[in-house]
Amino acid sequence: MIPVAARGAAFDVGRVRADFPLLRREIHGKPLVYLDNAATTQKPRQVLDAITRYYTETNANVHRGVHLLSQLATDQYEGARETVRAFFNARSAAEIVFTRNSTEGINLVAHAFGAARIREGDELVISAMEHHSNIVPWQLLCASSGARLKVAPIDDRGEILMDELHAMIGPRTRIVAVAHMSNALGTINPVADIVRMAHAKGAAVLLDGSQAAYHMPVDVQALDCDFYVATGHKLYGPTGIGVLYGKSALLEALPPFMGGGDMIRSVTFEGSTWNDLPHKFEAGTPDIAGAIGLGAALDYIGAVGLSAIQQHEQELLAYGTDVLGEIPGLRMIGTASRKASILSFVLDGVHPHDIGTILDTEGIAIRTGHHCAQPVMERFGVPATARASLAMYNTREDVDALGRALRKVREVFA
Ligand SMILES: Cc1ncc(COP(=O)(O)O)c(C=O)c1O
Repeated sequence: MIPVAARGAAFDVGRVRADFPLLRREIHGKPLVYLDNAATTQKPRQVLDAITRYYTETNANVHRGVHLLSQLATDQYEGARETVRAFFNARSAAEIVFTRNSTEGINLVAHAFGAARIREGDELVISAMEHHSNIVPWQLLCASSGARLKVAPIDDRGEILMDELHAMIGPRTRIVAVAHMSNALGTINPVADIVRMAHAKGAAVLLDGSQAAYHMPVDVQALDCDFYVATGHKLYGPTGIGVLYGKSALLEALPPFMGGGDMIRSVTFEGSTWNDLPHKFEAGTPDIAGAIGLGAALDYIGAVGLSAIQQHEQELLAYGTDVLGEIPGLRMIGTASRKASILSFVLDGVHPHDIGTILDTEGIAIRTGHHCAQPVMERFGVPATARASLAMYNTREDVDALGRALRKVREVFA
């Protein structure tokens, strides 16, 4: 079904909003203003309908049945994989592995790439703005392999110091793993440059696209990254489904992550052999409904138009930056020249949790805390920030409501 928002040619935020049932609800008797999109986005009816339709019409296990329902379920599941392939412009659907989320994708690479390629004394490079999901799996790998984790610093605006990153990538560097876009700062990193830099030194690159993928078009072939991870629940899809893209030659060369059904070609008590890509990395019954829901979400984004979404969100980000800039005592954390969606800030004399609590009484949902990026908080010398984050359905009215509520916070703490 064509999204309501896509039936007209131009981007129409009112029509987009009409597709998202949850946006109509009230919170504490006030209309919901949902500005916690970096944590998870709301879901359009097209996604909810696709999941319901799957369970009411074609539910069966995939890849193993000769009966019609199993074939239909398999077609839909593999169809969703093809949708993901097209969305990220991967060369082949075999390069798209369904995971539970970004975190699982990064852990998969850390385990499999780690087992195949990382030896004692090797080096892994990340940046200082990573989400814990792109720090801890590498720390675990270092602990088990004797490799060393190096961290490229960021400046006061929240941009990676590229010269320092360049100097850090050496002959022992096996992989560079960085966020395409920071969840705590909004910075969009120059990832194509980073890929070139790493490849020139023989290192592989994993890009954490958890935030970027729903704000801007992503072309993994143009980026030439070796791995790219994304998470369905931020892409307007369901929770419990994520995506790992990997270049097929690399994925072929890696050992499995988990063992079980579906990932094998043959099993005897003497040993087992592995299924073709991508199934080698999908042990057990997958999240079939989740993949179908994600496929519907990507179809929805495609129908609305990611470039139009990007333009709308960029205008709103500029507007939000101005509105928040006029709040006395507000300091923005993350002022990179290229950023998207994120308005992360602290307010003089007010703890971010108090900001979040007062905003909640106004029906405004934002995130407060360290945003699973404690090293970023440390870098900026704050224990936490308040973070408003934008998505395709947000409006200037949402931003105005945020500005009014922050002035109220100021009055309460005056
Ligand atoms: C940049 C970044 N990386 C990784 C993640 C982890 O995503 P998930 O919890 O869905 O695995 C997030 C989620 O907030 C994120 O923003």
